Amino acid sequence: MNGLTLLATGSAAGSRVVTNDDFAKTLDTSDEWIYSRTGIHERHFCKEGESCVSLAREAAKKALLRAKIAPEDIDCCIAATVSGDATSPGVACSLQKDLGLREDIPVLDVNAACSGFLYGMEVARGFLESGKQRRTLSGKTDGYALVIGCEQLSRLLDLKDRATCVLFGDGAGAAVFKSKENARYASLLGARGGEEIVVPGPGDGERKIMMDGKAVFRFAVEALPKTLKALLAQSGLTLDEVDWVVCHQANSRIIDHCVRSMKADPSKFYKNMDHFGNTSAASIPMALDEMAGKGLLKAGQTILLDGFGAGLTWGGALLQTDAQMNRFCLSEVSK
Ligand code: ACO
Repeated sequence: MNGLTLLATGSAAGSRVVTNDDFAKTLDTSDEWIYSRTGIHERHFCKEGESCVSLAREAAKKALLRAKIAPEDIDCCIAATVSGDATSPGVACSLQKDLGLREDIPVLDVNAACSGFLYGMEVARGFLESGKQRRTLSGKTDGYALVIGCEQLSRLLDLKDRATCVLFGDGAGAAVFKSKENARYASLLGARGGEEIVVPGPGDGERKIMMDGKAVFRFAVEALPKTLKALLAQSGLTLDEVDWVVCHQANSRIIDHCVRSMKADPSKFYKNMDHFGNTSAASIPMALDEMAGKGLLKAGQTILLDGFGAGLTWGGALLQTDAQMNRFCLSEVSK
């Protein structure tokens, strides 16, 4: 079975920065309360003219550029989102022409909330696997997937509900994956079918995220370490053999719980929710792109990804950065 390696990343965030102090002007809240409970200081919201699709486009263009492969070489494009501009066309379809992707490739959105990027990776791996024979016949050896996590959650927030609106932000992260035989790769996905977080769909009246924060917290602190331990067992690796753990960036305390439960080195667990908040499906690829920009991701590293979200979905992946990842230089990454 072929696995995926990570070739390149890109990201974009809404350009309106909203601080905790900004919320404190209209809500009974404070930077102290929000930061101590969540690890979040500020988040980015889209300004006029920006949207889930425009952020996804920007992130995807950067990832394609850095992958140094032609858009026509992409064999499938998956966008993970719960806040796309339209139910149909989905984000991935909206991007296809702009990005110059071929017409004869599968292009679709997946909805698995904050676990969406991890679900998107597996959907992409499946498409690359099923397209293997066709690629071979056309003389192409490598398969490439473009997977994007993108959200404009600000359009779904009840700005009077201090328990939810301070948590979320708008952003997009994109990754180009390469299909590789005998790659070090494992994926686990699941769901508990809960309604602890509800993102209403069109037709549900006013669309606002509703959440039982405590119940989600309890689910997350159980699901994250369980998934990591299962992925390590499946791969026959120890956490010492892993370079980075990138969890869904919902709440700093949830990641701290996971670190304690794994008796792990906290510096291995990347965090950036302090300046982006929870960007749902975008949080993991945005974190990966920030890490790449800082030079933290190097060719041949082993990374664990771990997420949970509405649904109650959960998922994880173990994979390696591609041997060719160093082809893109730092100056290009920070553009
Ligand atoms: N500022 C000040 N006070 C607040 C705020 C705020 N922003 N929000 C809630 N409070 C108040 C509550 O009203 C409550 O007051 P009361 O005691 O007078 O009723 C008090 O603080 C305690 O509220 P709790 O909900 O018990 O606070 P808790 O410590 O559980 O923290 C939080 C709430 C941060 C939401 C936490 O439960 C959490 O992070 N849960 C996980 C949420 C999450 O990760 N969701 C994303 C899932 S992913 C997806 O797919 C969308």
